Amino acid sequence: MYEPVIAVPPSFAASALVDEAGYRAMYERSIADPEGFWGEHGRRIDWIKPYTTVKNTSYGHPDVSIRWYEDGTLNVSANCVDRHAATRPDQVAIIWEGDDPGEQRLITYRELKDEVCRFANVLKAHGVKRGDRVTLYLPMIPEAAFAMLACARIGAVHSVVFGGFSPDALAGRIEDCASTVVITADEGLRGGKRVPLKANVDAAISRISEDHFAPVETVIVVRRTGGNVAMTPGRDVWYDEEAARVPAVCGPEEMNAEDPLFILYTSGSTGKPKGVLHTSGGYLVYASMTHQYVFDYKPGDIYWCTADVGWVTGHSYIVYGPLANGATTLMFEGVPTWPTNARLWQVVDKHKVTIFYTAPTAIRALMGAGDEPVKSASRASLRLLGSVGEPINPEAWLWYYHTVGDNRCPIVDTWWQTETGGILITPLPGATALKPGSATLPFFGVRPALVDNEGNTLEGAAEGNLVLLDSWPGQMRTVFGDHQRFVETYFSTYKGTYFTGDGCRRDADGYYWITGRVDDVLNVSGHRMGTAEIESALVAHPAVSEAAVVGYPHDIKGQGIYAYVTLMQGEQPTDDLRRALVHWVRKEIGPIATPDLIQFAPGLPKTRSGKIMRRILRKIAEDHYEALGDISTLADPSVVADLIENRMNRR
Ligand code: WT7
Repeated sequence: MYEPVIAVPPSFAASALVDEAGYRAMYERSIADPEGFWGEHGRRIDWIKPYTTVKNTSYGHPDVSIRWYEDGTLNVSANCVDRHAATRPDQVAIIWEGDDPGEQRLITYRELKDEVCRFANVLKAHGVKRGDRVTLYLPMIPEAAFAMLACARIGAVHSVVFGGFSPDALAGRIEDCASTVVITADEGLRGGKRVPLKANVDAAISRISEDHFAPVETVIVVRRTGGNVAMTPGRDVWYDEEAARVPAVCGPEEMNAEDPLFILYTSGSTGKPKGVLHTSGGYLVYASMTHQYVFDYKPGDIYWCTADVGWVTGHSYIVYGPLANGATTLMFEGVPTWPTNARLWQVVDKHKVTIFYTAPTAIRALMGAGDEPVKSASRASLRLLGSVGEPINPEAWLWYYHTVGDNRCPIVDTWWQTETGGILITPLPGATALKPGSATLPFFGVRPALVDNEGNTLEGAAEGNLVLLDSWPGQMRTVFGDHQRFVETYFSTYKGTYFTGDGCRRDADGYYWITGRVDDVLNVSGHRMGTAEIESALVAHPAVSEAAVVGYPHDIKGQGIYAYVTLMQGEQPTDDLRRALVHWVRKEIGPIATPDLIQFAPGLPKTRSGKIMRRILRKIAEDHYEALGDISTLADPSVVADLIENRMNRR
């Protein structure tokens, strides 16, 4: 197979933060002397009480413990706001571009400080204290960033729930972290359509058990559309009315480096979503350092990450990383395809964006719309492009490079996870020759390794399971409320290492190529979903007796959701029922979990001990039923013929 290699443009290398020799030297030092390396780079942020210890981490199952800078104290919002308000008050911190191309807001660091302080005072007025959990269910409006930073300012722990999740999914997340305060908006606005956020919050709260030990006491509602929403007296308040009553001054709390900053729920291969817990000092050091080096960020850049703040990418690379670096970060409320397929490039031109970071699914969708919308904008301000969320196929990579970037902008394909807090495997644009489809090389301090299914380390060019041998400051610390689950999920498969759940190939140049999840986790349009979650939603439907969900290749989404459903005795496999099941899953989890294909299956392939053989289901979903392998261990091999005959994906 021919693999093009794209060298670092000499002009880019000349002004980049690090060149190839610089990367090698810094990387080697970071591995040889992590204490010294991170001790030095930890000082990139302001500490109230400087740390005297740097790294105190152990992957030794069962005593996993991860602490960085543990005797230092700081405030994350003071780092993202106050220090820049003092030195560059009139610089724009947040460019907000509304769903409607006619709407925008520019917020300077001086204004950001006032807004964050006001929001913090509103939270305090409603009794929020250090350590309390606050759930945010917000659209992409500046108040989302204000609210996150306000929590950080007073030491509260935010849990942002993506606005595309259903009331049921929201309820589960509110309950799990026992948050008594929810921040939402009347409605969201995306692609010209209204999203009933407040109504969803009401529905979620009504689903939380009456005797839950921490009922929701306050709902703070930001006015976005002015749409008509119900307000429950004594519980619901309008943010603008509350904000008018409090001063725009609020001192930051002194927090320990290891105090929690946020919880973010993410799907795994089993059970309900896990509350990934990130803490303050190490997370901020890592988010700001990766933002600077990976994006070659320099003062004057206009930086745009198209993610939603409901995902970790929004946390680390819209809010915390860029703002810690005093950057101008663009926040986009809308969607790439509205009002036209040229929207992203019009926004690039309008705000003179220099660094642009998006997901392969968006690139593939826009590639399908042809070159014309791209060419209708100049994009002359762009100097660097980024990709995140799933493997990017070389075809999409090359289109992004040639058509969007006019062969001028390096692409950083950044591999990381909610759990990792920040980017772990990535090119540095001034240092790394690029190969389309490869996330290339580890960031400073990151020690990837490949192991086979027995845990043997693979050397040189090889393909296996991706593990990490040692900690980095941005790593998650625990699963909220369930440390045992943290240890079991990440540190028990390959003892002494952190297991990512991803498969990966390393080529002869030492470049890493992520091949996708090796566990029962799907990546649909860059959204992570557990097959078990979708299955339990399906079996909760009265007509369903059993369900098995697998992924299959999808041109735009990367992976599509393929559900095999066995019905209760007497139920008829009709198209109406199929539609009802799709609707049901959207209601239980949210539109992102919409099954693409549902196959009614009289029986599922099981071993004699009753275990569903997903390998077979995956093959049939991929339409590769010729190569099912050994099916003689099935309890009833005849079910396979029916599954093949009625398969839903025919290439
Ligand atoms: C999973 C993590 C990282 C923030 C957004 C997703 C996949 C992520 C890449 C990439 C190949 C990637 C992995 C990973 N993934 N980035 N550049 N190349 N795969 O965070 O929801 O926690 O999902 O996304 O499979 O494990 P997440």
